[in-house]
Amino acid sequence: MNLGYLILTASLGQLLGTMGQSTVTQQEGQVTVNQRDTFQTNCTYQIPSFYALSWYQQRKGQAPQLLSYQAAAGPRHSGRLTTLLNTTGKYSVLQLEEVEVSDSALYLCAVQDTVVELFGGLRV
Ligand SMILES: *[C@@H]1O[C@H](CO)[C@@H](O)[C@H](O)[C@H]1NC(C)=O
Ligand SMILES: *[C@@H]1O[C@H](CO)[C@@H](O)[C@H](O)[C@H]1NC(C)=O
Repeated sequence: MNLGYLILTASLGQLLGTMGQSTVTQQEGQVTVNQRDTFQTNCTYQIPSFYALSWYQQRKGQAPQLLSYQAAAGPRHSGRLTTLLNTTGKYSVLQLEEVEVSDSALYLCAVQDTVVELFGGLRV
């Protein structure tokens, strides 16, 4: 049984996208997750005409990879990954179970309206 800790470097999740009245925010900053625990992060948005929300994972030195794309509200499961989109509360929660060392990455949420795409980021 592996009881090792997963040590993650973190920087403050901050407002990266701002355009007119539209914002995308990820609230949490530092995240340290024990190996095999569940990692959860939340992204909120204010956007005039919501179209879809995507989650990306960017490992150090690599291009972002699409984890999930959702236009309709509700939960979406894919292996250890669950994303929940709430279009009423205007947020999405990303949950990753049974965290492994290889999950260390920057998790980005992107909100798409009919015209522009906005990004928020969280490094874990
Ligand atoms: C995510 O953020 C929204 C807006 O602040 C909040 O209503 C919701 O409870 C949060 N969800 C979680 C799981 O933190
Ligand atoms: C979605 O968000 C609204 C407002 O925050 C909340 O009342 C509702 O319970 C949420 N729905 C789900 C499925 O979490």
